[in-house]
Parts: sequence; C-alpha cells; structure tokens
Amino acid sequence: MDSFVRHIRKVEPVRVAVVCASHYGATRGIAERIAAELALAGLTVRVYDAAEPPHAEDVAGVDAFVIGSAVYMGHWLRDATTFVRRYQPTLLEHPVWLFSSGPLGTPATDAEATDILADTVPAEIIDFDSTVRPVGHRVFFGAIDPDSLSLAHRTIRRFPGAAEKIPAGDFRDWPQVEAWAREIARSLVKPAA
Ligand SMILES: Cc1cc2nc3c(=O)[nH]c(=O)nc-3n(C[C@H](O)[C@H](O)[C@H](O)COP(=O)(O)O)c2cc1C
Repeated sequence: MDSFVRHIRKVEPVRVAVVCASHYGATRGIAERIAAELALAGLTVRVYDAAEPPHAEDVAGVDAFVIGSAVYMGHWLRDATTFVRRYQPTLLEHPVWLFSSGPLGTPATDAEATDILADTVPAEIIDFDSTVRPVGHRVFFGAIDPDSLSLAHRTIRRFPGAAEKIPAGDFRDWPQVEAWAREIARSLVKPAA
C-alpha cells in the first residue's frame, strides 16, 4: 500500500481564464461553450466578462488564457483590448488563445472568393500578435438579433448595403467552436508520463 501511495504524484489542476467582451451575448455564448469543453477535458475554467475582469491576484494564479471579443466596425470591443493591454506582460509569459466573433451569414467566401473568416482580422490582432504572441487567433461566425440592437447599431445597419453585410440570425458554428476548444485542451493537458 505504502509503495502504491508513494507512486501517486500530485497533479495540479490547470487553471484557464476565459475572458470575453460581448455587446449582446453572442460572444459570451461562444466563451461559455469553450469553457464547457475545457472543463470536460478536466481543466479548471472560469469565464469572465472583460468589463469585470479577474483581479490581479486571480490573474496571477491562471495558467492559460482564452480571450475573445465581438467585432464591430473592424475592431474588438474596448474592454477586451483594455484587458489584453493591462496584463500584456503576464499574457506574454503564458499560453494565450484569442478569438473574435464577427462575420454574419452562411457563405464561407464572399463575391471575390475571399475566405470570409480568414479575411476578418480585427485591427487589434495585428498588434497582439507581437505583444502577447498568442498560440492562435480564431474567427467564428457570430449572431445578431436586430430587435435587441442599440439605436446606434440600428442606424449603422440602415446605411446603404449594411443590412446585407450584417444579416440577422445566429450563425455561430458550434462544432467548430467545440473543436477549437478541444485543440486548446489537448495542448494544455499533457498525457501522464
Ligand atoms: C453595427 C454592427 C457592426 C458590425 N461590424 C462587424 C465587423 O466589422 N466585422 C465583423 O466581422 N462583424 C461585425 N458585426 C457583427 C458582430 O460582430 C456579431 O454579430 C457578433 O457576433 C456580435 O457579438 P455580441 O453579441 O457578443 O456583441 C457587426 C454587427 C453590428 C450590429
């Protein structure tokens, strides 16, 4: 028995913070699905709204970060950007995955045959590529319900041609989201030696 006990090594849980910025909940839903998949893989996960980010002492205890934002007019939401800039030195020392929830509609390519997801690179990501060196950045299709939009967003949607680019509906691709989360889990959960 003693020798058996001696051979059980203490395995520390891997703690992941999933931080997201979401105006209407679509990105929050993606963050929660990622978190659920990571938890299934045995990781200790907590989802934070970037508007109420983890405190510095909580950040210090996190092993890996998944950070995502909805995209509006080509940009991440400010709360997500602020979180990344505030904790940049810590993020640089940890594995970080970034995601964006943006494009709406079902076609994978536009009229010029450009891959819509690959072509959606929020302005901030170019900067974060060098400042936090993420393991990866993934763009997911998003969702909008026109009835819940703010007056400003409704007005933008009334610009000529805008409603076709911002169609109503939920285009989130859950199998794609889950597959990405499993990729993250695989790289964080190392098989026992
Ligand atoms: C006014 C407006 C502007 C948008 N601009 C973009 C954009 O530039 N690029 C993009 O990929 N998606 C854009 N979207 C789509 C949103 O990013 C998408 O609906 C997202 O999933 C919303 O997430 P949220 O509910 O978490 O805020 C826009 C949506 C609206 C209503």
